[in-house]
Amino acid sequence: MKHLYGLIGNPVSHSMSPDIHNSAFQDLNLNYYYQAFHVENSDLADAIKGIKSLGIKGFNVTVPHKVSIMEYLDDVDESAKQLGAVNTVLHENGKLIGYNTDGNGFLQSIKPSLSKPLEKNSILVIGAGGAARAIYYTLSKFAPEKIDICNRTLEKAVYLIEHFGAGQRGEALTIQEAESNLSEYDVIIQTTTIGMHPDTAEKPISLKMAKDNSLVCDIIYNPLKTALLKEAEAKGLQTLNGVGMLVEQAALSFHIWTGMKPNTEKMAEIIVGKLGGEHVNR
Ligand code: ATR
Repeated sequence: MKHLYGLIGNPVSHSMSPDIHNSAFQDLNLNYYYQAFHVENSDLADAIKGIKSLGIKGFNVTVPHKVSIMEYLDDVDESAKQLGAVNTVLHENGKLIGYNTDGNGFLQSIKPSLSKPLEKNSILVIGAGGAARAIYYTLSKFAPEKIDICNRTLEKAVYLIEHFGAGQRGEALTIQEAESNLSEYDVIIQTTTIGMHPDTAEKPISLKMAKDNSLVCDIIYNPLKTALLKEAEAKGLQTLNGVGMLVEQAALSFHIWTGMKPNTEKMAEIIVGKLGGEHVNR
């Protein structure tokens, strides 16, 4: 019998998860299928009951259910518990177990672009939302030189540093403070929604003061090259877009469900192809 996997969220119609997971199932000769399901907040409890009774083997969770899903799960792994958010659920022996692959997905994607070990880098995270929280929490475990967080709403940056850094060196900054300190950072990680399609001309920060050999990451993948990455490229800085994080968090979910590793290069090609890009920028 075909095993069924899926995604629950709202909206899900533009998700590329079905494309990349179904392609990986095919490549590995797995008779499985991945389907996106549009689930309203008011229907979440019924959707979970349906997943259990229909025997769906695992699923991803996206906005707006990443936090609210937790009350319906039988168990949640340690890092998802700490983060208070789940993006992957495994349905095994009648139990639903929650995981969060966002932070580790980002970590996997940045590794090949780092010119020195993670712990030797000074890092700036721009933004203090859900994505920033997962990235900050994961990177802090390596105790880099420092990780500063800047955000439009300063209190949210303070909150992340106080609750998710486990004593990590670094401080909360306004965007303006970070902009003038930019030469201090080896790695700049943009996690806000600024610059995302359709508002592609927008930038959260100016890179004027960034130092020559720094790496600028933007977790946005649509567009493939945000205005921020264009500025970084024009300055001769190293860049990384969000395709790698999207692919690696999916690959980690895939591994939780199947115990197998999908071809991440192929997943990236599918995403880049769907977004009208010509080459994989990773
Ligand atoms: P995600 O889960 O994708 O991280 P989120 O939790 O809604 O999304 O967080 C969005 C981030 O983008 C926040 O850091 C937000 O800043 P605030 O905390 O001040 O709201 C940031 N952001 C979104 N739109 C912004 C804008 N127009 N200017 C500055 N920051 C913005």
